[in-house]
Amino acid sequence: MEIKKVAVIGAGTMGAGIAQVCASSGYEVYLNDLSVEMLEKAQANIENSLARFVDKKKISADDMKAALGRLHKTTDLIEAVKDVDLVIEAVFEDLAVKKELFKKIDQHVPENAVLASNTSSLPITAIAAATRRPERVIGLHFMNPVPLMKGVEVIRARLSSDEAVATGIEFVKSLGKIPAEAVDYPGFIVSRILDVMLNEAVYCVMDGNKPEEIDKAMKVCTNFPMGPLELIDMAGADVLLHVMECLNRELGDKYRPAPLLAQMVRAGQLGRKTGQGFYSYKK
Ligand SMILES: NC(=O)c1ccc[n+]([C@@H]2O[C@H](COP(=O)([O-])OP(=O)(O)OC[C@H]3O[C@@H](n4cnc5c(N)ncnc54)[C@H](O)[C@@H]3O)[C@@H](O)[C@H]2O)c1
Repeated sequence: MEIKKVAVIGAGTMGAGIAQVCASSGYEVYLNDLSVEMLEKAQANIENSLARFVDKKKISADDMKAALGRLHKTTDLIEAVKDVDLVIEAVFEDLAVKKELFKKIDQHVPENAVLASNTSSLPITAIAAATRRPERVIGLHFMNPVPLMKGVEVIRARLSSDEAVATGIEFVKSLGKIPAEAVDYPGFIVSRILDVMLNEAVYCVMDGNKPEEIDKAMKVCTNFPMGPLELIDMAGADVLLHVMECLNRELGDKYRPAPLLAQMVRAGQLGRKTGQGFYSYKK
């Protein structure tokens, strides 16, 4: 199925990035959020990001202008989805919120449209069940920061049709990115493997290893571009805890979140965003 128009629901970190790469790849993009302020913030982030690509001569100033011309912002959900071929949802990681949203989108989007969620850990099959067209629902799991990261997981839910999955794969390729097909178990492929490794790094801290030694070991001994604890501080300890709790609930004790991780979240030591995680970011 040919995609021409895309709606992106949720204009936060991921939604803004997804809208940017879609508009840069020639799609008309309808970006939706609950407030004008969120949309304005997303627009400013997209402009800054595109300007950096222009500075680095990766795109021209005309390309930037054309991409911004294809970006349409609206707080009206129906307006955003009523005429598109693909919807990509990137709102808060909350199953009830996503199910409610998909139910609404389903009522207003064209019959043949594909509906995708960018969730990191929630079951696509459960989100699809909120619609009357579960065969048209897939996962498109973009990585952060979206404009820079090459890979996208394409998730086949229990009832996804081959055609919807194939459309997702072709769409990802059209963005200049590389699709990896994953089945719909918690954490898919990337979060399931990566987050277990990050959680294990927290257990290593509990065992008495120094954070800087853990990060150094993983960088110099395994060529990781950044250490696991640096990565947790960047993504947010709360985000990792949430994914580990999902994995633990569905897949068992092997995925138990490290007690230190839960303790840090309770203390508000979430990483860069709160100024303190495994390292201090206070000026
Ligand atoms: N941040 C990451 O590193 C990352 C990576 C991959 C996937 N994800 C997933 O992407 C999704 C979004 O994450 P994020 O980090 O961009 O979150 P975020 O908090 O930055 O943004 C979420 C946005 O959704 C908006 N929103 C909430 N409910 C809405 C609704 N009903 N309609 C329209 N907009 C609504 C909020 O106003 C907010 O702007 C989550 O499912 C998350 O698990 C995040």
